[in-house]
Amino acid sequence: MSFAKKTVQHLDCAGKRVFVRVDFNVPTANGEVTDDTRIVAAIPTIRYLLQKGARVVLASHLGRPKGGPEPKYSMKPVKVRLERLLRMDVAWADDCVGEAAEAASRALKDGEVLLLENLRFHPEEEKNVPAFAEALAKLGDCYVNDAFGTAHRAHASTEGVTHFLRPSVAGFLMQKELDYLGKALDQPKRPFVAVLGGSKISGKIDVITALLGKVDRLLIGGAMMFTFNKAKGLATGKSLVEDDRVEMAKAVLEQAAAKGVELVLPVDCIASTAPDGTAPGAPVKVDALTPDQMGVDIGPESVKLFASKLADAGTVVWNGPMGIFEVEAFAAGTMGVAKAISVLKEKGAVTVVGGGDSVAAVQQSGMAEKFSHLSTGGGASLEFLEGKVLPGVEALENEGAA
Ligand code: 3PG
Repeated sequence: MSFAKKTVQHLDCAGKRVFVRVDFNVPTANGEVTDDTRIVAAIPTIRYLLQKGARVVLASHLGRPKGGPEPKYSMKPVKVRLERLLRMDVAWADDCVGEAAEAASRALKDGEVLLLENLRFHPEEEKNVPAFAEALAKLGDCYVNDAFGTAHRAHASTEGVTHFLRPSVAGFLMQKELDYLGKALDQPKRPFVAVLGGSKISGKIDVITALLGKVDRLLIGGAMMFTFNKAKGLATGKSLVEDDRVEMAKAVLEQAAAKGVELVLPVDCIASTAPDGTAPGAPVKVDALTPDQMGVDIGPESVKLFASKLADAGTVVWNGPMGIFEVEAFAAGTMGVAKAISVLKEKGAVTVVGGGDSVAAVQQSGMAEKFSHLSTGGGASLEFLEGKVLPGVEALENEGAA
């Protein structure tokens, strides 16, 4: 699938107020942004618009405030970081709708930027209330959505607003994300290998089912592996097992066999009695967990096995860590898989990482540059891989439309 939506390049935006939905939902601590990856990722769109002489109005949510303003979710720390990244002053509006915000948008000159306070300080944003979408639309003359990370939400600023602001087009980040993920799924260089991790099969079943129809190999790690092991009748000790999903795991094993997909499970794991890392872990064969032990990571033999199954890949999609990688002692499996994938790009493979935790792991590994694409979307990339329509994308104008 090639990207079929209009983009900022179709906009005639000089002298116009461009309302840009970005995903600046970034972690903050003590009033400072602690990871600006998502802000950095939106800079190309912002710079492009500024160079074209647009008046840029930026809107985002941050966190999940409970129905009203909460100082800890203010966008103010984002303004500080944005000014540093753009090397210019950014105007500010204390509220994302209303007279003051409208006046601030009208006060912008060509090539200037305004950042609005958190959209979710109004519950109408998540409820996609038309009157609120209309109020947002008053701040712009046209609309750009560059918030891939929020594209799976049908909110006022991602979907509703497009009914009031035209043209509605995609930003460069949105385009890049959909290009990478879309091409990986629809025109993969083969072998196409997916690596899935994370704790629960229940959260990943839709993506597993969708990928079984597309991939050549599916490697499964993370605590999810133990539900599969239980389905195969293996000992699981105290590992996280979803007993109500064992039948589901059996069905996945059968479907993979029926579709000719090689489903690869770990052969060993790191066994520990303390998932917080206070007790040391040791590698054991996957069927040798004692009743007091839990599996907290895939083991070294499994890292070797996974690396061998990845070695000839033309396309890799990775979602979800292999173990409790936040605990240093249990990070080796996730880092080993990151390393095995990191060597593939220079051999000509396309390697895409989707999902907040696996992207964080790659960044922690210091190998981010060695991947073709790290998605800025957690839930959004997962829903895309599941084959779902993303409402924030659907709402944008199709290429070729008048
Ligand atoms: C994300 O971080 O996944 C997006 O910003 C969406 O946030 P949400 O899950 O709170 O809607």
